[in-house]
Amino acid sequence: MKKKQKKAVITGAAGFIGFHLAQKLLERGWSVAGIDSLTDYYDPRIKQKRLAILKKYPKFRFYKLNIAKYAPFEKVLRKEKPDDIIHLAAQAGVRYSLTDPWAYIESNMLGTLNVFEAAKRLKLPRVLYASSSSVYGLNTKSPMSEDDRTDTQISVYAATKKANESLAHSYNALYGIETVGLRFFTVYGTWGRPDLALFKFVKKILSGEPIDVYGHGKMKRSFTHVSDIVAGIAAILDQAPRGRNTLYNLGGAEAVPLLAFIKNIEKEVGKKAKQRLLPMQAGDVRETIADWSKAHKELGFVPRTTMEEGIAEFVAWFRSEEKFLRSLKEPKQ
Ligand SMILES: NC(=O)c1ccc[n+]([C@@H]2O[C@H](COP(=O)([O-])OP(=O)(O)OC[C@H]3O[C@@H](n4cnc5c(N)ncnc54)[C@H](O)[C@@H]3O)[C@@H](O)[C@H]2O)c1
Repeated sequence: MKKKQKKAVITGAAGFIGFHLAQKLLERGWSVAGIDSLTDYYDPRIKQKRLAILKKYPKFRFYKLNIAKYAPFEKVLRKEKPDDIIHLAAQAGVRYSLTDPWAYIESNMLGTLNVFEAAKRLKLPRVLYASSSSVYGLNTKSPMSEDDRTDTQISVYAATKKANESLAHSYNALYGIETVGLRFFTVYGTWGRPDLALFKFVKKILSGEPIDVYGHGKMKRSFTHVSDIVAGIAAILDQAPRGRNTLYNLGGAEAVPLLAFIKNIEKEVGKKAKQRLLPMQAGDVRETIADWSKAHKELGFVPRTTMEEGIAEFVAWFRSEEKFLRSLKEPKQ
């Protein structure tokens, strides 16, 4: 018997992770409907470029809409009738949540409520949604595990992600929708966000400009290559929904100090960085190190891309698109 073609709706499909996930599912023969409002937190021209790549796949469709408005969003879901919904749309960025907290409440709280509510009304069996390592907040235990308490968020961004996890619990308890929260740890890769460190560092080191190094370079991160994140999500989609409410840490294999990360970029670019060592920024957490043993045990998740490989790939990509990438507007702060 011919296998039924799988259909996914991805919110935030023009975003960094959504783009890579859509591409992976399309390569695997899925039909994908992408939703995104193309916000201008960072220059939407890079979102258009990602969409142009996705639109080359005949089984990709795109809907430009704001998920914080319920009716048009439900209409798209009724039309698409997806097997799975992967909810990645959000106002991202820790620091900007101190400047414009309202953007986070609209996209992350109202938007996520709408996703769960639509799943309930349309009787969708499962919602995968993006959470974040930032929910661990002031926890000092390292590495961070899904069993740890998470009640000390220190930014509005992190608080909205924690609220999403609570909503997921409620929708699961009330209506039996399977809810799977994905706590991503510092994701990087090609077509990455211009507001994130790797993008800013490569851009400035290449042109000899100084870079701002917060926490005096002592922050540690589980940098995670986007292909590993996407492989983790695909492994969840390969399993049939079974009505649970659960969370997975998806994070890189190594705990990397920021200065080591910068050293690696310098090596790849072939230039020394001019560093401005600065204190920690408000809202930022000193260490986010992933314990990903649960994802390993239940999904076979293993972060495969080393930092050296990932940075080399990113620098090569940046160079190949340099003129365009330098023409992008500075992200909001
Ligand atoms: N990149 C990381 O390191 C990281 C780490 C932890 C969690 N996350 C989470 O993963 C998800 C994807 O992140 P990303 O790095 O791809 O960010 P991104 O900003 O590149 O992608 C998010 C997309 O959502 C869209 N969007 C925002 N508000 C919307 C709305 N109301 N309606 C429709 N679309 C809307 C934006 O236009 C954007 O294209 C987000 O939920 C983010 O919070 C990312």
